[in-house]
Amino acid sequence: MAPSVTVKLGGATLLAASALAASPSGYGYGGNSTAAPSPTITSDAGYSATTFNTASASTYLPLPDFSNEQLAFLWDQVYAAINTTVSPTPEPSVFPKPGYLHPLVPAYVSEVENAKLPSDFLWGVASAALQVEGAAAAEGKGPSVWDFIPHRWVNAIADNSTADVAANSYYLYKQDNARLKALGIQSYSFTISWPRVIPFGKGPVNEEGIAHYDDFFVNLQENGIKGVVTLFHWDTPLALFNNYVRYAKLIIERYDKYVTVWYTFNEPQYCNWRFPNYPYGTLLPSYNGIGAGGTKAAFLCGHYTLLAHAEVYNWYKNVYKGTKPMSFKNSANWIIANSTSAADAEAVSRVNDFNMGWFGGPWTDGDYPASLRSTLGDLLPTFTQAQKDMIKGSADFYALDGYTANVAAAPPNGIAACAANSSDPNYPQCAVTATVQPDGFPIGPNSDPGATWLWSTPGGIRPYLSFIVNTYFPKVASKGIVVSEFGFSDPYESSFNTLGQILWDLRRADYMQGYLDNILAARALDGVNVTGIFAWAIYDNFEWNSGLSTKFGLQYVNLTSQERHPKASMFQFLNWFKLHGEDTTATANITAPIGHKRM
Ligand code: NOJ
Repeated sequence: MAPSVTVKLGGATLLAASALAASPSGYGYGGNSTAAPSPTITSDAGYSATTFNTASASTYLPLPDFSNEQLAFLWDQVYAAINTTVSPTPEPSVFPKPGYLHPLVPAYVSEVENAKLPSDFLWGVASAALQVEGAAAAEGKGPSVWDFIPHRWVNAIADNSTADVAANSYYLYKQDNARLKALGIQSYSFTISWPRVIPFGKGPVNEEGIAHYDDFFVNLQENGIKGVVTLFHWDTPLALFNNYVRYAKLIIERYDKYVTVWYTFNEPQYCNWRFPNYPYGTLLPSYNGIGAGGTKAAFLCGHYTLLAHAEVYNWYKNVYKGTKPMSFKNSANWIIANSTSAADAEAVSRVNDFNMGWFGGPWTDGDYPASLRSTLGDLLPTFTQAQKDMIKGSADFYALDGYTANVAAAPPNGIAACAANSSDPNYPQCAVTATVQPDGFPIGPNSDPGATWLWSTPGGIRPYLSFIVNTYFPKVASKGIVVSEFGFSDPYESSFNTLGQILWDLRRADYMQGYLDNILAARALDGVNVTGIFAWAIYDNFEWNSGLSTKFGLQYVNLTSQERHPKASMFQFLNWFKLHGEDTTATANITAPIGHKRM
């Protein structure tokens, strides 16, 4: 039976081009762009004025032809090969997978070999809209800061790629969901694109964007996959930096019935590493008198993130009367001391405070940790009593994106001298981190040069989960802790150019086994209430400033054909849940690579 195709050509080109034409700065694309000039051809001597309607295109046009359709057809060639919603083809029941010549990585923790997870344990794979959807200007979507950065900020992205197409899941989601089902994956943790739904961040809702997510949710449910949704994963509408609550309410009211778990924000710790250049270098005007960014901007960003989270949480629980668990995802890692000195012990605790405590402190105690207040003084905003009350307790469980570990030491000039001097290079954390053990050996195998922060350290996740739950945030984390992201980027994977080189991703497979076993050990042997596990990522995607070349996927994406192929790490992951999950239908014996075919 011929699959049906929803043809939605041309709108993307038109919208992008109009936006560019309207840009006061004369927004011009760099060499890495796939964008169009204005589609409105104005009168020139001897030529008539015409406005082309690219939405009327079909897929083949004879030459010579100077019609709207022909123009759209040409732009269609420039843009992604796939720019219509594609109906799925049947998925295989058996996929190619590692054989006995090099089997999957053996277990790390023999004591948990027979341990089982409860039937309500949530597990699956994760993604984020900007990193996978593509369709950057399609169907009424507004630009986000992450559409802006790759195009306008020279060399901001290591490989000069953009997220314009990425894994093109905006059009391929039906096949992707069918793939999740075929692989036996229980849940999918994904994010909604705010600028797709509300293109200016506030103001009118984009009905085409909403219609897309309507279809997405229904299709996910039809495939029997549980949805875990993050409302904000860094793709702030360019038109706006702070009207989050209205967007959150719109999405929650519409999709609550489909969602198993809500996350308001992805890793608010991003305020730390984005806002020193606030707002994204010097290309945009600064807001609220905080000039070119720096420490003040970072902590203001965190402050408003906490307030926005708490406002959504309280509205959801008390007004909307929502019943699903809600939290936000934290970027944090297990920190060990570089020596037994008191100074290095204090350095460890400062790293934890300036990273986890910055956000978890207000949740737990209603205010920032004392170390932040005493170091930052007026640079740290204050909460009113009403705000403290609103923030305190505004999380149903703790969510940890815990990828790696670090070693911390006091700075050479001492913590006190650093904390007293806001110009000190290590201010305000006043602790230095490293990825070598105290004896100088690396903490684990390294990842891709595009992710220098990431080292495979499975031994760290087990004590870390205990530490968070029993020592650091018992009030929140004892309600439950989810490893909401963990994953690995194999070194130089993007330089491989045959499937054979790509698919046996030994380091990622080893990372999966090591982390999963240690997470289970924390639960089964140490009594930590771990309630969910999500691997990053469903497939290769756009890794922010490292672009498309730094790969995190459990599935390889051929960026030309958009075919997806499960890597060895995917089978490592599935086999593990087959062994340790109770309610999984994981079918990791899955023989022919299946990808997406354009209809
Ligand atoms: C966490 C972030 O949420 C995600 O967007 C990113 O791609 C992964 N870490 C890997 O760096």
